Amino acid sequence: MLQNLEDLKNEFSTALNEVKDQSSLVNLKADFLGKKGKLNNILKSLKDATPEVRKTLGMKSNQLKETILADIEKKMTALELFEINERLKKNWQDITYRSSLRDQGLTAAGYHPVTIIQREIEDIFTSMGFEILDGPHIENEYYNFEALNIPDTHPARDMQDTFWFKDMKHLLRTHTSCIQARGMEKRTPPFKFIGPGKVFRCEATDASHEAAFHQLEGMMVGKDISVANLIYFMKTLLSEIFRKEVNVRLRPGFFPFVEPGFELDIECLICGGSGCSVCKQSGWVELLPCGMVHPNVLRHGNVNPDEYNGFAFGLGLDRLVMMRYGIDDIRHLHSGNLSFVSQFKTF
Ligand code: DAH
Repeated sequence: MLQNLEDLKNEFSTALNEVKDQSSLVNLKADFLGKKGKLNNILKSLKDATPEVRKTLGMKSNQLKETILADIEKKMTALELFEINERLKKNWQDITYRSSLRDQGLTAAGYHPVTIIQREIEDIFTSMGFEILDGPHIENEYYNFEALNIPDTHPARDMQDTFWFKDMKHLLRTHTSCIQARGMEKRTPPFKFIGPGKVFRCEATDASHEAAFHQLEGMMVGKDISVANLIYFMKTLLSEIFRKEVNVRLRPGFFPFVEPGFELDIECLICGGSGCSVCKQSGWVELLPCGMVHPNVLRHGNVNPDEYNGFAFGLGLDRLVMMRYGIDDIRHLHSGNLSFVSQFKTF
């Protein structure tokens, strides 16, 4: 009978080696250890044996049972792992950025057109001695409104639909003019800087409006700065950007932080002035609000308005990009569509 147990052990080993999947393993277990299984069959015949034989054989068969159970468990773990790996091999998908680019037929990355324009403008202004400043997207009321001569009660606060945080003290900056307020505090005149960045407005989107877009703020403060200086810098900027003389017009415009304030429009480069969806059929695109810095703004920035003055402007970068590349819907810029972006300058 001992021989029977030994044979059973060998039979099990051979059978276990042949098992290739989990369900066969479950069957094998039932075959050997189940109620009507092979081991029980041997044990049944024990009833006729002497007590000593029964004792040794009982022990031996228990040991065999334990060995079989342990082997089955080991094999089960190995099979699980194997099956997971097989599934992974079959369903393997490269979800990395690089391969998704390749799937879209893109072999080289490119800069976003807003980045291209922003860098060009930065180059133009640094070559004219301007610094480049940055500022936080999450602002407080002071820098977004108060320091810019927009007090609590001022109707101009309605002009900008604001994304407020729950505390009603913090907000997503509605314009890059906050960079003016922060920049002035840390400088003594004369100074000049630009501040590009993302801004946020809680408004419905259409071909020319987005809730998140880009502005580039500019400020120059010194002695005897005039509107003529402002116009000079703006014209230099625009002719460099568009690489040609563009038609501009200046209209009076109201912004609490400048006095006088202007709207500088350029003739629509998409339709050449005949009217399209970008210029809302008017032939002109509002591109550059600007003006002479309001004395209150200078005061908030610790600049004495009796001694110094300056100009400021806030350029809408997305519109500029649209004009430059002939893009007729601002929403393309935020589409995240890689085929769109790859049309521009590659690295
Ligand atoms: N902050 C204004 C806006 O978001 C734009 C602006 C207008 C900026 C006139 C200026 C300025 O610096 O002088 O609409």
